[in-house]
Amino acid sequence: MIQLKDICKFYQVGDDRVKALDHVSLHIRPKEFVSIIGPSGSGKSTLMNIIGCLDVADAGSYLLDGLPIEAYTENQLAKVRNEKIGFVFQSFNLIAKLSAEENVELPLIYQKVPRQERQERVKAALEQVGLTKRAKHLPTELSGGQQQRVAIARALVTKPSLILADEPTGNLDSKTSREIMEMFRQLHSQGNTIVLITHDNDVAKQAPRSIHILDGQLTEVAL
Ligand SMILES: Nc1ncnc2c1ncn2[C@@H]1O[C@H](COP(=O)(O)OP(=O)(O)OP(=O)(O)O)[C@@H](O)[C@H]1O
Ligand SMILES: [Mg+2]
Repeated sequence: MIQLKDICKFYQVGDDRVKALDHVSLHIRPKEFVSIIGPSGSGKSTLMNIIGCLDVADAGSYLLDGLPIEAYTENQLAKVRNEKIGFVFQSFNLIAKLSAEENVELPLIYQKVPRQERQERVKAALEQVGLTKRAKHLPTELSGGQQQRVAIARALVTKPSLILADEPTGNLDSKTSREIMEMFRQLHSQGNTIVLITHDNDVAKQAPRSIHILDGQLTEVAL
């Protein structure tokens, strides 16, 4: 599913070269739920951007569902993102003027899914996250946890091969965080592949497999 081999990523800042990822190798199988945990500046977002095909590595190889991502152009990367990856972010990234159901519908419009099918899939995705009754609400009319559930429904609705979440509980209180993590566990039990990035140990340990990142290097943690 995800096969990273010897991935390196550098950032040039003036005369300094920051090594953000240092020979990262990682194999994630279909239907796994993996958390990646590390402190600020350890390379989590850099790794997420590469796994999510938002950025490419400077060295190493990346196979996603067998596709050689490291050789892809911008356009090809955008296509892979649209077709294969559902993103969930710390700040929810919902469109303020659109209702919950319209936010969830948006990726299906981009994919040119016909209206009838869009409506059915939006309904099913909102039901899956327990928000059927809030379909007409705007993001400002929802709690933080509900907004994140809309974002999860939006990630799910395209039936992606991978759900990629970067600090999805970062803006939520501890009770709501637990609810959102319960949601991810449920999605995992339904057969979704999930990679979740966090700096919070309590969040990380709710995934069956946890990987540490420090100074751009990975170590597997036995839980
Ligand atoms: N665009 C950039 N230009 C230069 N250096 C960068 C850039 N992005 C990240 N870095 C550096 O690369 C390293 C890894 O950064 P990254 O954003 O991946 O960390 P992170 O683990 O996501 O941290 P946080 O938990 O604070 O979000 C850091 O040392 C950071 O300063
Ligand atoms: Mg980050």
